[in-house]
Amino acid sequence: MDRLAQVVDALELRPDSRVLEIGCGHGVAATLVCERLDGGAYTAVDRSPKMIAAAARRNAAFVEAGVAEFLVGDLEALDLGDRRFDVVFAARVRLFHTDPERAEACVAPWLAPGGVVRAFYDTP
Ligand SMILES: C[S@@+](CC[C@H](N)C(=O)[O-])C[C@H]1O[C@@H](n2cnc3c(N)ncnc32)[C@H](O)[C@@H]1O
Repeated sequence: MDRLAQVVDALELRPDSRVLEIGCGHGVAATLVCERLDGGAYTAVDRSPKMIAAAARRNAAFVEAGVAEFLVGDLEALDLGDRRFDVVFAARVRLFHTDPERAEACVAPWLAPGGVVRAFYDTP
């Protein structure tokens, strides 16, 4: 199985999960997440405007359907308003590897009660 398919599989999403991905890159995992949602929602943050534009293009149907949104932002300066997430994940995002405690502290304010953070540096 493809690396990002394994990542998304490991998230054990429910159809109604509210999902935040940090560092979505081209939005490949985004598609795999959105395909599993029914009543849930997916938000992606990446600090690269180019990556966000590419990911939003790739997932335009999910954006139009109101299932996905793609936001330019930095993990260390997140402002996600009143959004809260059941599952937060990141794949190959450096801070989760080099300083996982710092990375988890950055996303902690956005977790719903019982929410989980999953970070993958390579295959799950
Ligand atoms: C190596 S790519 C991985 C992309 C995708 N997650 C994957 O596994 O193929 C890392 C991505 O995370 C983004 N990124 C790295 N550090 C970030 C940070 N502090 N805040 C937001 N995005 C970040 C980069 O812009 C890049 O798009």
